[in-house]
Amino acid sequence: ETVDWDPEQAGKGGYDHFMLKEINEQPTSLAQAVEGRIDPENGRITLEDLGPGTFAGIETVQLVACGTSYHAALYGSIALNRAGIRTTAVLANEYSISAPPVDDGTLVIAVTQSGETADTLSALRQAKLEGARTLTVTNVVGSTAARVATDALFIRAGPEIGVAATKTFSSQAIMLVLLARRIAADTQSDPPENGEALLAELAGMPDRTEDVLATSDAERIARRYHDSRSYFFIGRGLGFPVALEGALKFKEITYEHAEGFASGELKHGPLALVTPETPVFAVFTGEEDEKTLKNASEAQTRGAPVVAVCPAGHEALEIADGHLEIPETNSTLAGLFANVQLQLVSYHAASLLDRPIDKPRNLAKSVTVE
Ligand code: AGP
Repeated sequence: ETVDWDPEQAGKGGYDHFMLKEINEQPTSLAQAVEGRIDPENGRITLEDLGPGTFAGIETVQLVACGTSYHAALYGSIALNRAGIRTTAVLANEYSISAPPVDDGTLVIAVTQSGETADTLSALRQAKLEGARTLTVTNVVGSTAARVATDALFIRAGPEIGVAATKTFSSQAIMLVLLARRIAADTQSDPPENGEALLAELAGMPDRTEDVLATSDAERIARRYHDSRSYFFIGRGLGFPVALEGALKFKEITYEHAEGFASGELKHGPLALVTPETPVFAVFTGEEDEKTLKNASEAQTRGAPVVAVCPAGHEALEIADGHLEIPETNSTLAGLFANVQLQLVSYHAASLLDRPIDKPRNLAKSVTVE
């Protein structure tokens, strides 16, 4: 007697889709991202050969990336700016025509899971040619980006098969948060304090992500709202790139219309689209949450159901129609927990709509043409 053996099915490790497997791998991928790199006891960060002094002389940073990696770059740019480093995130496919000027005090960081995205490689090569210092944050050792950039920092997320990027987003964001502190240490006489607290939170992230995954209400929320007309995602500060990423993931795998906004932008136009058939997912990261709550309430007044992505006991729950819980944590990391919840909502909505989750139509895992 023979047993049917489907290598693809086996690779999914018991999950129906690679995407769900990869979402659930985040406790491991996050642990791998920081392993041997952080020492919460003394607030020290060690990034292999990017040792102390590596970033001496860097005055500005430009992050170049596409898609989900661009959202991670945007997340990183906020962390870098808050660490006192002048940083811009630029879409790699816009870089050739709208790059800010570079010189030898500019560090250009290509953020790319595959290390093979043509747009990102082209921006990286242009920056190098113009005299910038270059670094890539990538998942693939031996990728083109790793060979072209002067330095490489690997996120160690393990292979990502689903076309939708999931676990690599959180690892990229974490690496950029660590880089922000390393660059600040090399370039500032008085770098920001409080490293220990953040690193301790980072060390606890895998376990807390495990809790989020184990207790998520995302399937029920997806079931309640998956036949809506449009889906809006709002957030501010580090919640803004998470809102953009929530919307990208949602449209990519459900084929439904979704948009992400900075919370404060809702009233500058998108509010015209809000109806009872447009659920609003509001991300609360602990940064000016009262403003996001006000924006969400405005949408609710127009009939839109509001799903709050926030810790238990949060004031948003007084008005929210649904809740996706995240742990109480440092505002630098809160958005990453929120993102896990939004990944799950997209996954379950796509599953209810019977979409080919791992291979959405018209998309490729790695886009090697400009
Ligand atoms: C998102 O789910 C997509 N897979 C896509 O936006 C992706 O992030 C983008 O194409 C960039 O790919 P890279 O990280 O491999 O450069």
